[in-house]
Amino acid sequence: MPSQSIILFMTDKKSIIAPSVLAADFSDISRAVKLIESAGAEWVHLDVMDGCFVPPITFGAQMASAIRSETDLPLDTHLMTVNPGKHLEAFMNSGVDRFTFHIEAEIHAHRLIGEIHNSGAKAGIAIVPSTPVSLISELLGYVDQVLVMTVNPGWGGQSMIRSTLNKVRTLNEMRKAGAGEYKICIDGGFAGNTAQETWDAGVDVAVMGSAFFKAENPAEALRKCRPR
Ligand code: DX5
Ligand code: ZN
Repeated sequence: MPSQSIILFMTDKKSIIAPSVLAADFSDISRAVKLIESAGAEWVHLDVMDGCFVPPITFGAQMASAIRSETDLPLDTHLMTVNPGKHLEAFMNSGVDRFTFHIEAEIHAHRLIGEIHNSGAKAGIAIVPSTPVSLISELLGYVDQVLVMTVNPGWGGQSMIRSTLNKVRTLNEMRKAGAGEYKICIDGGFAGNTAQETWDAGVDVAVMGSAFFKAENPAEALRKCRPR
């Protein structure tokens, strides 16, 4: 179990990898978390799906609590739900560290970002592949991370939509121009064949689902996806 000072270091560094438990064996989540920790991953990514915003249903705050009891690593929660603000209190009570919601699911995004910060968590905004960066430009000064979906949300194991990396490049340029101090994150299709192009585009955090948990040797698969 990493110490608190190591946890803090892991949050501030660049090139963070966040394995998504969506691809793990749900019947043994404790083993999944141990795999994430022993592989040296910095964050744990929790894919919360409600069957409305996306067709599948995954898990809620109870699973987040179970994972919280297994690790001190930052829990990076990705709400693929309608009405994401409705779930904030429950996930905060579960002890998650980061709460990312979709701009497509929340008209009052600026207000919700404030509520997330008031609850003590880091706030993230996510955009699906068809949503341009311009739709969240007014929020970049307020969020701690921007999650660029590099697949259509709902399922692991898809191929990366490489054109979405142009949004990463745009967000990088906007950040350099002072738009905000957000981490740039990608989610979907991150694997050995896409990792270096992803880092080169300027990503700070990469979610890694099936390429991690479906690998013969997850730790080795993760190591191969580190930037060269
Ligand atoms: C998809 C999820 C992603 C997914 C990534 O909606 O948000 O986090 O689990 O899985 P891979 O890495 O397998 O594409
Ligand atoms: Zn996700």
